[in-house]
Amino acid sequence: MFMKYLSRLSALRLGVAAGSLSAIVLVTSIFAKTESAAPVPAAALNGGAIYVGEAVCIACHAPQNAQFTHTQHANAFRLNPKNEREKLSCEACHGPGSNHLKDPASPANHASLVGFTREWGTPVAQQNAMCLTCHQGGQHMFWPGSTHATNDLSCSDCHNPMAKVTATGLLRKPSINETCESCHQQQRAEFSKRSHMPLHEGKMTCVDCHNPHGSTSKSLLKADTVNETCYNCHAEKRGPFLWEHAPVRDNCLSCHSPHGSNQDKLLTVARPFLCQQCHGNGAGHQTTLYNAGQILGGGAAPSTRIMGRSCQNCHSQIHGSNHPGGARFQR
Ligand code: HEC
Ligand code: HEC
Ligand code: HEC
Ligand code: HEC
Ligand code: HEC
Ligand code: HEC
Ligand code: HEC
Ligand code: HEC
Ligand code: HEC
Ligand code: HEC
Repeated sequence: MFMKYLSRLSALRLGVAAGSLSAIVLVTSIFAKTESAAPVPAAALNGGAIYVGEAVCIACHAPQNAQFTHTQHANAFRLNPKNEREKLSCEACHGPGSNHLKDPASPANHASLVGFTREWGTPVAQQNAMCLTCHQGGQHMFWPGSTHATNDLSCSDCHNPMAKVTATGLLRKPSINETCESCHQQQRAEFSKRSHMPLHEGKMTCVDCHNPHGSTSKSLLKADTVNETCYNCHAEKRGPFLWEHAPVRDNCLSCHSPHGSNQDKLLTVARPFLCQQCHGNGAGHQTTLYNAGQILGGGAAPSTRIMGRSCQNCHSQIHGSNHPGGARFQR
């Protein structure tokens, strides 16, 4: 491996010298262009290196280039560059490469290039800044200060622009869900519980509810609140109802887990205990009818009223009722 690079190195010396020259021409032409949307990074980047052009990079990195060629960036930068920065190709992301060429295989020379792998050691903030100069606004508006940003995630923890692994999004893993679940093992387990959102069944992805790039609401939700998130797909639960059930309006998660649960219908707690968490402190049938003894068959025979849908055998319209006589959600 190393020998291969050595022989390439000597073969390249001439080419590099010629490359530097054209890079200087390129740099001057950049300064002449001021309308460029994505500014070319300051010359101080990579130890004051200058741009050498992608042909030089490809001479040593042909395997990487073979993969890169199929990506959205390669298409955009090579076939239809919108500004001078995009024309830089490899160096649009990795920064100017002249110093990298001096001793590319030496670990001591890592500061000569913006690298996006953990081992290379470029600070995460600097890596992300390279991407964000072109990808700011829109979905990325709230990246600064988001949970992922403050936990030091880099764009390349989820994206791999060097290969087209996914049809869209240039993700690291073959799908959105696999990309997220590679870190979020607990959520992966939740989606495998007895009752769960049909995520592993391919009917939805994490980004139907979350924006991994940041949001203004809790837990990186795309919508402003939990309930707005749910109404996107369960519009019939939005109401308004003639008779509202307070906890439903307040937060769907009073009763449901968002990802999955071992109780029926993604419920946080089995019925009737679910209802009895809030009902039954006072008098009434809510607690007395359905105590634990009856459920476990402890002494008394299980009440038919706690079978099946339990309290909902009678209070069936638990999300709210539009029936004039539905104050108790029985119809
Ligand atoms: C003379 C051969 C040669 C040339 C030309 C060359 N590289 Fe490299 N490059 C290497 C070697 C050798 C390594 C080190 C590989 C290692 O440490 O595993 C390397 C490593 C890298 C890395 C690895 C960073 C990481 O995260 O691991 C990147 C990115 C890179 N080069 C980009 C470029 C770019 C962009 C250019 C053009 C400006 C370029 N290279 C030109 C030989 C070269
Ligand atoms: C859109 C930004 C972008 C462009 C353009 C780009 N790279 Fe990369 N490159 C990255 C990212 C991000 C990684 C880290 C990928 C990873 O984590 O596996 C990377 C990794 C690398 C690596 C080290 C890891 C590996 O795959 O071996 C090399 C070498 C490399 N790039 C060379 C190049 C060359 C050569 C070009 C031009 C033909 C180029 N890059 C164009 C963003 C870019
Ligand atoms: C936690 C994982 C994660 C991180 C970190 C992340 N992304 Fe993404 N990104 C995604 C997912 C998932 C998609 C959606 C892909 C799809 O819909 O096919 C996406 C989509 C995109 C898109 C295409 C959609 C659009 O906005 O036009 C761009 C561009 C993008 N990300 C850039 C970035 C940049 C730049 C960073 C770093 C500041 C970053 N991403 C960090 C997961 C991530
Ligand atoms: C020089 C500007 C520039 C830089 C730097 C840049 N990108 Fe892009 N990126 C683009 C353009 C242009 C597109 C293509 C947009 C299109 O096809 O509409 C794109 C597309 C994408 C997409 C979406 C692919 C799709 O399916 O549409 C992702 C994800 C992405 N970039 C991530 C990154 C990441 C991560 C980095 C940093 C490692 C980065 N970009 C650096 C300009 C840039
Ligand atoms: C490289 C690892 C990594 C990947 C990949 C990743 N995350 Fe995260 N994520 C984290 C870390 C670290 C945290 C913060 C600590 C925690 O809550 O576990 C976090 C937190 C979160 C949170 C909680 C935010 C909050 O404010 O409480 C959500 C939601 C989230 N990630 C969604 C996603 C989604 C969706 C994806 C895929 C697009 C994804 N993550 C991919 C590492 C990752
Ligand atoms: C149907 C919508 C939905 C989908 C799909 C979804 N989530 Fe969530 N997620 C939520 C809601 C709602 C919360 C809780 C918000 C709160 O407590 O305020 C949440 C919370 C989280 C949290 C914070 C910790 C926790 O568990 O409460 C993480 C991390 C997370 N989700 C990751 C993921 C990942 C990874 C995926 C994909 C594998 C995913 N989510 C898919 C709706 C969803
Ligand atoms: C992206 C669309 C989408 C979003 C957003 C969404 N759901 Fe769902 N939900 C579904 C689909 C699809 C099903 C499966 C329906 C089926 O199999 O008939 C489902 C099923 C359910 C079920 C029934 C599960 C079962 O075992 O029958 C409950 C309860 C549920 N969702 C609650 C919620 C809650 C609470 C939220 C907000 C945190 C939410 N959903 C957000 C699409 C969504
Ligand atoms: C007071 C507890 C409670 C709250 C709060 C609640 N639900 Fe439910 N939900 C239930 C129960 C119990 C069931 C099971 C109903 C059954 O077995 O007939 C259920 C079933 C569902 C179902 C599947 C069956 C159906 O009716 O379509 C969906 C979808 C659902 N809930 C969505 C939501 C959404 C969205 C919210 C927030 C707007 C929400 N729930 C708030 C208790 C609740
Ligand atoms: C998170 C707490 C909470 C949970 C869980 C809950 N409720 Fe409620 N419920 C309330 C509140 C608060 C009211 C409104 C009480 C009021 O207006 O005096 C209410 C009202 C009711 C009413 C109408 C009572 C009246 O006096 O008008 C019925 C019936 C009811 N709930 C049944 C249920 C059933 C059945 C379940 C389980 C599926 C359940 N509730 C779960 C909090 C809860
Ligand atoms: C066999 C049918 C039936 C079952 C099962 C049932 N209820 Fe009721 N519930 C009623 C009727 C009928 C009323 C109306 C009583 C009235 O108007 O005086 C009522 C009233 C209520 C009320 C209003 C306040 C009160 O005590 O009058 C609450 C709260 C309530 N039920 C909760 C529950 C809970 C929690 C469960 C499950 C543990 C449950 N119910 C199971 C029939 C039932």
